[in-house]
Amino acid sequence: MELDLPGGTNHHMKIRNTIDIKGIMTDPVTLVLRLWICAEAPLEIRAMENIKEETSLRPIIKNHYKEHADVTSRAQTEIDDWLSTNKVTMKGNNIPRPVFSFGEANFNPRILRELSNFQTPTSIQSISWPVLMSGLDIISIAQTGSGKTLAYMLPALEHMSHQNLPKSSFRSPRSPTILVLVPTRELAQQVSEVSKSCIKASNLQYATLFGGVSKFAQEDFLAKGVDVVVATPGRLLDHLNTKTIDLRNCSYVVLDEADRMLDMGFEPQVRSVLSQIRPDRQTAMFSATWPKEVQKLARDFLKDEVFLNVGSMELSANPDIKQIVEVVDGREKRDRLKHLIENIFSKENNKTLIFVQTKVAADRLATFLGHFGHKALSLHGDKTQLQRDTIMQRFRRDASGILIATDVAARGLDVDDIEHVINFDYPNNSEDYVHRIGRTGRAGRTGVAYSFVTPEESHKVPDLIEVLQETQQEIPRSLLDLHAPPPPSFKRRSYR
Ligand SMILES: Nc1ncnc2c1ncn2[C@@H]1O[C@H](COP(=O)(O)OP(=O)(O)OP(=O)(O)O)[C@@H](O)[C@H]1O
Ligand SMILES: [Mg+2]
Repeated sequence: MELDLPGGTNHHMKIRNTIDIKGIMTDPVTLVLRLWICAEAPLEIRAMENIKEETSLRPIIKNHYKEHADVTSRAQTEIDDWLSTNKVTMKGNNIPRPVFSFGEANFNPRILRELSNFQTPTSIQSISWPVLMSGLDIISIAQTGSGKTLAYMLPALEHMSHQNLPKSSFRSPRSPTILVLVPTRELAQQVSEVSKSCIKASNLQYATLFGGVSKFAQEDFLAKGVDVVVATPGRLLDHLNTKTIDLRNCSYVVLDEADRMLDMGFEPQVRSVLSQIRPDRQTAMFSATWPKEVQKLARDFLKDEVFLNVGSMELSANPDIKQIVEVVDGREKRDRLKHLIENIFSKENNKTLIFVQTKVAADRLATFLGHFGHKALSLHGDKTQLQRDTIMQRFRRDASGILIATDVAARGLDVDDIEHVINFDYPNNSEDYVHRIGRTGRAGRTGVAYSFVTPEESHKVPDLIEVLQETQQEIPRSLLDLHAPPPPSFKRRSYR
């Protein structure tokens, strides 16, 4: 997985997190005590103390939810039926009832107008909107392509409009109210793109902050005043270090792809960012996967959170995707791919996304397919941002294109009409598998995912078989034969 790492070091955080030695030197007992607390306390708590000391923080109006009369009068049996039909699990206190239509969510009419393309809320939207507008922290898990972006963004805009902030022309520079953190540049751009009509309809301003492009344009934008920031953690930390953004007024934070944001690659950066946000903020975490390893960590950042899940409580792929797995010798993979592509392109509806593990493999495979007349684009972290943008635009536009990508394209990307996903290289773990294949079969459509597994990857097979069983997919004999116990060094992912 390629990370969007910060360009600079984290000096600013270090300075923020030290205690004011001058103020306590007079009392040796307090000094020892505070130094001990400082050494023991997690980074975030220490930084929170600094934030608490600041006096000028406005009160946050978190609970602005007004339940619609139709929701209030709905029979409990009808709600229970709906929850069970949609396989909804809800855990926590004071969870409001789901809404069954856009009108029942009581959104501002200007936002409502932007939803005219859709018929009804998706299940995760039905249950997440009332919880978020009631001001509760949330962990919200639902399958890929189920509309999670609007599930967190629309309540964010409602939150914003209830904060009694100065009118837009006087909004404070560099000091957003809403922050959405995402793992990749492409996803940051997409979240902004998807949300911009609703943001504009709400008379708000947004900025998208990610690496690989000039910081100066982003700084200018921030200086004019923004309400919503969508960012990758690396570039956001850069802006925090240079004080070109200030998160003191931020009161609604989303970690999209939360398990990815909390895993080893991003966790220190996310921790640094969150430590600079007021502790009484509202925090929302969204993903399609929620492995045990990150669950405990997530609690460091949430308070009395509500847990929502749509679908199986086990790791599961979108059931609208047909999953086909082939056991293939590593040396035969290219030939198999060639046949597969020829087969796919002999029919209609053939837009295809192919995943590989390395940047070099992406470029080489594109050249290989080119030799057979199949023009393929490749996307990975060694491309310039301009190239990455152009490639994504072309792939989005081309109804029958082929994109070969590393895991930069694995999470969150919503490209219309991808019919086939091919795991040329099997991913590192089954969560990544679920996200990768989830680039097809979105918003109620169907899709097909092919995955090549080599005999050397037999330790990944038990988890894969569980995922296949979860949605009653066919499991080939050759895969069952590979079902070897994992080597002692390989740790299987545990789930919920
Ligand atoms: N209520 C709705 N009805 C129909 N389509 C919707 C609705 N809400 C969102 N969509 C569409 O569903 C598609 C997937 O949405 P989105 O990208 O938010 O999914 P996601 O759950 O975040 O997926 P992932 O887990 O892959 O990030 C988008 O094209 C979006 O426009
Ligand atoms: Mg998403």
